Amino acid sequence: MSYMISPDAGWTPKRSSIRARRTVASWTSLLKGRFDQYADILIYIRGFSAGGDRALPRQFTSKKRAIHTMKTWLISISVATALISSGTQAAGEAAAGDATAGKAKVAACTACHGPNGNALVPTWPKLAGQHAQYIYKQLMDFKSGARANAQMGPQMIPLSEQDFRDIAAYYSTQQQTPGTTDPAAAELGERIYRGGNPATGVTACTGCHGPAGAGLGAAKFPRVAGQHAQYLDSTLKGFRTGARANDPNGMMRDVASRMSDEEIAAVSQFIQGLTDWPPDSP
Ligand code: HEC
Ligand code: HEC
Repeated sequence: MSYMISPDAGWTPKRSSIRARRTVASWTSLLKGRFDQYADILIYIRGFSAGGDRALPRQFTSKKRAIHTMKTWLISISVATALISSGTQAAGEAAAGDATAGKAKVAACTACHGPNGNALVPTWPKLAGQHAQYIYKQLMDFKSGARANAQMGPQMIPLSEQDFRDIAAYYSTQQQTPGTTDPAAAELGERIYRGGNPATGVTACTGCHGPAGAGLGAAKFPRVAGQHAQYLDSTLKGFRTGARANDPNGMMRDVASRMSDEEIAAVSQFIQGLTDWPPDSP
């Protein structure tokens, strides 16, 4: 069976979508530098206007809250715009990955990533149900060295880009086995996942990875739901130290660098138990 995927969406785009991406990038950098200034203005307006409380939402009573809220809005706008532009590209420039051909190419991967990409050892990531675009990007990054790992790097040497597409198509169509959350970590983990930490500037994970952790293939935001907590914990710490640095614009390094060990452990536990496979799985 053949699945149409667009692993290159965003990197060889049509002119209109290049323009859309540039616009998003320039808004993002323009606004980022000005959050501080805007926060002051919004707090000032809120305090000044008649009727006070109703003029602007509660988020704008303190500077930290105001900056946090603006960041969350900005992410939502950027994601929506990126989606529109990559959707346009996907139609025109889809590259075919063949899941059946992919299945025949993963024999060497099964030792670590398990049957159908459901790794049994929790330090190795599950690949089942992951977005093809994200898998393809990671394989390219391991091959180029942009993402360094002693176990993964050598596996990539004999494989071609077409192999990557086929393997990505195969794993993306497998069903993931769900995981569970340690109840002791659930409350803090969910709070971080859904709301971030306004006090330290940790952005909510929901903004990019979605409320159910399903990610967004077209934007190459990975599915995180159901992933092994131990792998999540170590990869978040990798982003925090910069040992893993293949995230576009440092998006994940920025988030992880603001997180404590306790927050990383809790959010990893929460994500392990998240599932978006209704209705037949718990
Ligand atoms: C010896 C064990 C091992 C083998 C064999 C192996 N991998 Fe991996 N793989 C890993 C480890 C460990 C990581 C996590 C690396 C890290 O922490 O950065 C990983 C990460 C990945 C990722 C990134 C997952 C994510 O969520 O970001 C992909 C995709 C992947 N492997 C695909 C493959 C494919 C395809 C093969 C076979 C061609 C393969 N791996 C063979 C150990 C292995
Ligand atoms: C601004 C968007 C954004 C936000 C907010 C965000 N992420 Fe990410 N995340 C990404 C992107 C993009 C990647 C993929 C990076 C790459 O291409 O390797 C990623 C990758 C990851 C990975 C690695 C997945 C894997 O399979 O290796 C984990 C784990 C993760 N994010 C967890 C989180 C958590 C936890 C939060 C909230 C505290 C969060 N993210 C907030 C965009 C975001």
